[in-house]
Amino acid sequence: MENQKKIILTGDRPTGKLHVGHYVGSLKRRVELQESGAFDEIYIMIADAQALTDNADNPSKIRDNIMEVALDYLSAGLDPAKSNIFVQSTVTELTELSFYYMNLVTVSRLQRNPTVKSEIQMRNFETSIPVGFFTYPISQAADITAFGATTVPVGEDQAPMIEQTREIVHKFNSVYGETLTEPQILLPDNEACLRLPGTDGKAKMSKSLGNCIYLSETEADVKKKVMSMFTDPDHIRVQDPGKLEGNTVFTYLDAFSNDGHFAEYLPEYANLDELKEHYKRGGLGDVKVKKFLNNVMQEELSPIRARRAEYEKDIDGVYEILKSGSEAAQKKAAQTLKAVRRAMKIDYFDDPAFLQEQQRKYTIG
Ligand code: TRP
Repeated sequence: MENQKKIILTGDRPTGKLHVGHYVGSLKRRVELQESGAFDEIYIMIADAQALTDNADNPSKIRDNIMEVALDYLSAGLDPAKSNIFVQSTVTELTELSFYYMNLVTVSRLQRNPTVKSEIQMRNFETSIPVGFFTYPISQAADITAFGATTVPVGEDQAPMIEQTREIVHKFNSVYGETLTEPQILLPDNEACLRLPGTDGKAKMSKSLGNCIYLSETEADVKKKVMSMFTDPDHIRVQDPGKLEGNTVFTYLDAFSNDGHFAEYLPEYANLDELKEHYKRGGLGDVKVKKFLNNVMQEELSPIRARRAEYEKDIDGVYEILKSGSEAAQKKAAQTLKAVRRAMKIDYFDDPAFLQEQQRKYTIG
């Protein structure tokens, strides 16, 4: 389809404030895509229904984070005039779509989904997996296809979800006729942004480990976290040669810094490669590198912080953004659902042929 519309859908579970891993992994890219003007429609979803699949007994956690995530989105630069921000559970069409898609997926296929597998392990769900959690890849396929998304910008961990969605699209279209759009995943092109580690060097950033830098954090708190970041534990004296592998400060520099930052804050080095060479050789202390990283991160985060302060003064306005975004999203999903019901031949009362068929069948003569 040549003149197919280009549509983005992506989102986040509202289980906490968004951190810099979310930012470099996806949020920053969304803002760039939004500003590129290359997309006809952009939908950004606060995935509260998905968050409930493993937080069923803690609904206030989800409720408390709706506004938090909306503020993170807006302060990162998502512009409600260009991107439709909405709340998943308000679009009830998504649950109906999920129910139909469930018929097209096998239990063993879900069991093989690597993201679901590792999440089950992480949550110690092995023997008591909620059915809703187990099937969330199907609901994610509903999220993506309901909006006719062509492009799904997400982190690497979401790749199996997009793959599963593509399978559902193929299956649906081959059984019921060409109806759904096949989405493409869009991963960050910078390796370090694919999976930013926690400040302690652990692979996973998590609130309970206390190793995240949040988008909404104060300047002083960001600095404190950067200055205590994990580096090379064997790099004890300045003159010792240092290791870059697993060195969180350098991973963050890979993700955040550019040559302009060097000109501005560390002109003795032309670029990150030169800084790395010096570190490996020995003679470059961690504190100097951390101070540079702090400058780089503050430069990125301070406009975000400033925008947040403005939006926080206008919570009614943010509420309206969410409400009208949700209404627009619902309209779009309703169109897809209509096409799906038609393709599945269950649109009995919208399709005059249904009654005619029955009349022919039951009326003699
Ligand atoms: N699973 C995503 C996450 O954990 C959130 C999400 C739900 C999503 N539905 C989606 C992302 C559809 C992209 C497309 O953050």
